[in-house]
Amino acid sequence: MDDTAKLYPPQVPLVTEAWNVWQSLTAARRNILELIPEIALHQPIVSGKMGRRWHMVMDPDALKRILLEKVDDYPKSDVTKNILRPAIGESLFVAEGAHWRWQRRAAAPVFTHRNIANLAPIMSAAADRSCARIGASVGRATDLYTEMMTATFEVISDVTFSGDEMFDRQAVHRAVDGYIDQTAKVSLFDILGLPTWIPRASRMMTTGAMSQMKQMSDSVIDARREKSPDDIPDLLDLLLAGEDPKTKRSMNTAELRDNLLTFIVAGHETTALTLSWALYLLAFDEDAQDKLRAEAQDVLQGRTATSDDVPNLPYTRQVIDETLRMYPPAAFLSRTAQKDDTLCDRQIKRKDTVTLPIYALHRSHLLWDDPHKFDPSRFDGTKEINRYAYLPFGDGPRICIGASFAIQEAVIMLATVISRYKFTRVPGKDPKPVLILTLRPEGGVWLNVENAT
Ligand code: HEM
Repeated sequence: MDDTAKLYPPQVPLVTEAWNVWQSLTAARRNILELIPEIALHQPIVSGKMGRRWHMVMDPDALKRILLEKVDDYPKSDVTKNILRPAIGESLFVAEGAHWRWQRRAAAPVFTHRNIANLAPIMSAAADRSCARIGASVGRATDLYTEMMTATFEVISDVTFSGDEMFDRQAVHRAVDGYIDQTAKVSLFDILGLPTWIPRASRMMTTGAMSQMKQMSDSVIDARREKSPDDIPDLLDLLLAGEDPKTKRSMNTAELRDNLLTFIVAGHETTALTLSWALYLLAFDEDAQDKLRAEAQDVLQGRTATSDDVPNLPYTRQVIDETLRMYPPAAFLSRTAQKDDTLCDRQIKRKDTVTLPIYALHRSHLLWDDPHKFDPSRFDGTKEINRYAYLPFGDGPRICIGASFAIQEAVIMLATVISRYKFTRVPGKDPKPVLILTLRPEGGVWLNVENAT
């Protein structure tokens, strides 16, 4: 192993020379992140032209302008929307303008601190089941990425359609993961904003499973309308009760279904990725793992973590924050300029594609000290971090609505698992970060499992 591999966990190999179209297309098919030029880690903005003009923005002030100050001039580009629309319709994630605004106002109360804390027992129960499965692998290597996908799917399906017998979890899991796998390979055409009518063959194949899943969800929602809510409302109960305070509009069955499926699609894999990369990083840095375990064992005393424990697990939280910096699940956001503008002294023209390569922002040498190093102490509260240098959940009015939900789940799962098990790397099986809609560990996260002492 060379010294770099000992010091730094896996990185995306970035481009150091100018590429022709063919080289770019080949790289993009491999991994969209490989299109990011290395200079993006040393400059605030990088621009180019391929069909359309594009800009990669890594400057905190310019990012603030795009996400907050001039948010209406920079709507989401068609990239992610076209991929997601067949699955989740004109829901919160995809909608723009007035149709987005009323849905956001109606959904905001669902994610209050109190409602999220009420859902913590579901996360703790999933953490317990996950530990039982991991326990069956003691003494050998197991793929923690697959395990975390199972665990976070249990959570999201239990907080959306809890206790509904008609709801076939396995069918939904298969449909959602199958859809993402087959369709989400973001093509270069998508990134550069070329016409969206170019059919993407793979994207059209999965519509059968999707429409079955939608029908099933609709029946569950209609049945739930007739029932009085349980003591602890789940996300469906809360959305059913939700109403836009301004227009008094509430969601019909199709809107409810599209938004619940959005929570599943947007919330399950992203949280699983955070946890899998965190487990990998803790195996990479065994001192950090020992430190996290000491904290978790001290606080939990053999129990499973609950929402009350979350504020008492600050190092666990730092590890999660640092994981989201190094391997942000949403590593590449994209917008289309609606007006001429200036960003970092550069002219932006209407219709230019403006990308926010969060992966590059989080590893910029202008913003971070030794950016490729795993160092949870960056987030210990003693160092100032520019808010717009760290954007794992985006920012502004379209900031991730599920951020606190995801953080609570990640802290509960990670502290519980690490308090019980010890993980070490499997030589030659380090994951490679690859962007397929989200930043995934190619090859899985294979780690040796032992009982913790
Ligand atoms: C670690 C886990 C997660 C990460 C890294 C993440 C990341 C993000 C990011 C970056 C955005 C903004 C996208 C953009 O501006 O283009 C976003 C939006 C969104 N996320 Fe998350 N997310 C996570 C978990 C969740 C969860 C658990 C839920 C729901 C239960 C969720 C629901 C949503 C929704 C509905 C939006 C769209 C909000 C809007 O446009 O108003 N996410 N997420």
